[in-house]
Amino acid sequence: MKNTSFLCVLLAVFFMAMGASNDLHQVGSLNSAHAHSGATGIVKDRMDRFKDSQTALKAIAAAIKAQEFNAIDAPAQLIAQWGDEMVAYFPEGSNPSPSEALNVIWQEMDQFKTMAEANANAAKRLKQLALSGDQSKIKPAFNELVGSCKSCHQKFRQ
Ligand code: HEC
Repeated sequence: MKNTSFLCVLLAVFFMAMGASNDLHQVGSLNSAHAHSGATGIVKDRMDRFKDSQTALKAIAAAIKAQEFNAIDAPAQLIAQWGDEMVAYFPEGSNPSPSEALNVIWQEMDQFKTMAEANANAAKRLKQLALSGDQSKIKPAFNELVGSCKSCHQKFRQ
């Protein structure tokens, strides 16, 4: 009996994890395939901020689905704030393992900055539109925000 219930708990945790990763795929496969235990210092700090940003993105997706547009404000603000601060968390050469940041960040810092700015701006625009409650514009603005995450990852992340 004891073993059976332990197995049930394991299975429950497993399916919860599966559910979570399916959600992530809905917002565009933004999670990383790798485990990141062992990250320290500024690398750990920025990974945590990116994870918070991803959680915020999921909250926005859920708010749009539920048409609760006032629930977009806080997570959009969190993403915008991080977009404004992000570049300062990438001092030159700060990509020892397990970081997935690519060297090209420091070779093409101008473009990296532009993409971080585009991310912050997309979040700010979404926040504005959410306050106005204009449904026809909220969805495209959300897609643009997701796109700004993905295009930076394509170029600058492993
Ligand atoms: C300007 C570039 C850029 C933008 C914009 C960007 N990211 Fe990232 N992201 C990165 C880089 C680079 C890493 C790898 C950091 C590392 O491993 O040191 C990363 C890592 C991550 C990670 C993995 C964190 C971990 O635990 O290792 C997640 C999740 C993530 N980003 C989500 C997002 C989301 C969600 C958005 C948009 C709301 C976003 N990112 C926008 C560049 C960006």
